[in-house]
Order: sequence, then structure tokens, then C-alpha cells
Amino acid sequence: MQSRLFAATVLALSFAFATQPMFSQEAAAGPDGSDAGQSQAARPRRPLPKPTNLKVLPKDIAPEELIHIMRGYAGALGVECSFCHAPGPKPHRLDFASDAKPDKNIARIMIQMTETINGQYMAQVHDPDAMPADKHVTCGTCHRGHSMPEHFVPPPEAHHGPPTGAPPGGAQPQ
Ligand code: HEC
Ligand code: HEC
Repeated sequence: MQSRLFAATVLALSFAFATQPMFSQEAAAGPDGSDAGQSQAARPRRPLPKPTNLKVLPKDIAPEELIHIMRGYAGALGVECSFCHAPGPKPHRLDFASDAKPDKNIARIMIQMTETINGQYMAQVHDPDAMPADKHVTCGTCHRGHSMPEHFVPPPEAHHGPPTGAPPGGAQPQ
């Protein structure tokens, strides 16, 4: 049962990673936060390599947690791992520790910026209307599935003054 579950998980995640042959095995071990106990059991024999070149994320981060975060970045920007990570010497493998791609370093600045926004500014906001997920910004708050955040242009002449009958705070997209 357990091993069948594991096989299914690997299969599902391999599909998710089909366009990125590197890391398919390893990434399958990454818990998605939904069931930590199960992912412990589902850990493959080959352990995830320890990161060697972390400059902004905690150096002692669990490799599974790191991969979970990385998948979050990729999803938030609508990109593959290879958007930030340079190819390695082996074909179809990325050299995750390499800093050759400028986007990786931009991402480091973005990680620090996001931490500062949350730690220094959002932490000061005590808004009773805010749901827990509103209490911090993420990469996706700005990027929304685009590597470059889209320019927001308000609809022309949407309204003059407050709309009548609109929900308080206005209808926010998403
Ligand atoms: C938006 C850019 C971006 C994307 C997309 C991204 N990463 Fe990363 N990744 C980074 C950055 C930045 C670091 C270094 C973080 C630091 O310096 O603390 C990193 C570090 C890593 C490391 C640690 C390497 C080492 O040895 O130091 C691994 C492994 C990794 N990423 C895997 C992945 C995987 C797998 C994906 C796709 C699911 C992915 N990354 C997608 C930006 C990205
Ligand atoms: C407050 C809004 C905001 C947040 C939050 C944010 N970004 Fe950005 N990001 C931007 C803007 C604006 C740019 C364009 C800046 C530029 O190119 O000069 C950008 C550019 C980037 C780029 C370069 C894209 C390209 O095509 O050159 C990467 C990579 C990136 N962000 C990653 C991230 C990651 C990873 C996170 C979360 C840790 C994040 N960003 C969070 C606003 C944001």
C-alpha cells in the first residue's frame, strides 16, 4: 500500500517534472506540506543533495523544504527551474549551485526584498479584515504567473467616485 502510494506519487511528480528531467527523483521526495508523515515514508533511497551555495535562504534548510520553496518560485513566475538555474555538464541536468544565470541573482534580491516587505512593513499592519494569507506578500503577489510582473493599467473611466453597491474595499481581482 505504502509503496504503491509512493510509486503513484513519483509518477505524478515525474509528470509534473517531465519537461525538466533533472531532479525528477529527488523532487518527488519534496513534501508539499500537505502530509509530512506520508512524505517521510515516501522518501526515496537516494537522499536529496545538501545545498552548497545558499546566500540568502537559511544554510541549514532541509533539502525537501528547499525544493518546495523552489517549486513555489517557479509557479509564482510561471517558469521552469531552468529560468534561474544554468545547465550543468551532464545533458538535461541543471547545475543548481551555479550562479551563472543572472536571474538567479535577481531572485536572491527578490527573496530579500520580499522578506523585508513582510518583516519590516507587513508585520506592522494589524488589519482585522485581513485573512491569514493576506498578512504577507509572496512572489506571486506581484508576479502572478509572469516572470516580469505585468504592468497594471486601470480600466479607463471605470468610475468617478465610489461605485454604488460595490462591496466595501472594492472587488479585488483574486
Ligand atoms: C526565480 C528563480 C528560481 C527558480 C525558478 C528556481 N530556483 Fe532554485 N534557486 C534560486 C536561488 C536564488 C537559489 C539560491 C538561494 C540562496 O542563495 O539562498 C536557488 C537554489 C537552489 C538549489 C540549491 C543549490 C545549491 O547547492 O546551493 C536547488 C537544489 C534548487 N535551487 C533547485 C531548484 C529547482 C528543482 C527548481 C524548479 C522546481 C528551482 N530551483 C527553481 C532561484 C530559483
Ligand atoms: C513587490 C513586488 C515583487 C515581489 C514581491 C517579487 N517581485 Fe520579482 N520582480 C518585481 C519587479 C517589479 C520586477 C522587474 C524588475 C526589473 O527587472 O528591474 C521583478 C523581476 C524579477 C525577476 C527577473 C525577471 C526577468 O524576466 O528578468 C525575477 C527572477 C524575480 N523577480 C523573482 C522573484 C522572486 C523569486 C520573488 C519572491 C521571492 C519575487 N520576485 C517577488 C516585483 C516583485
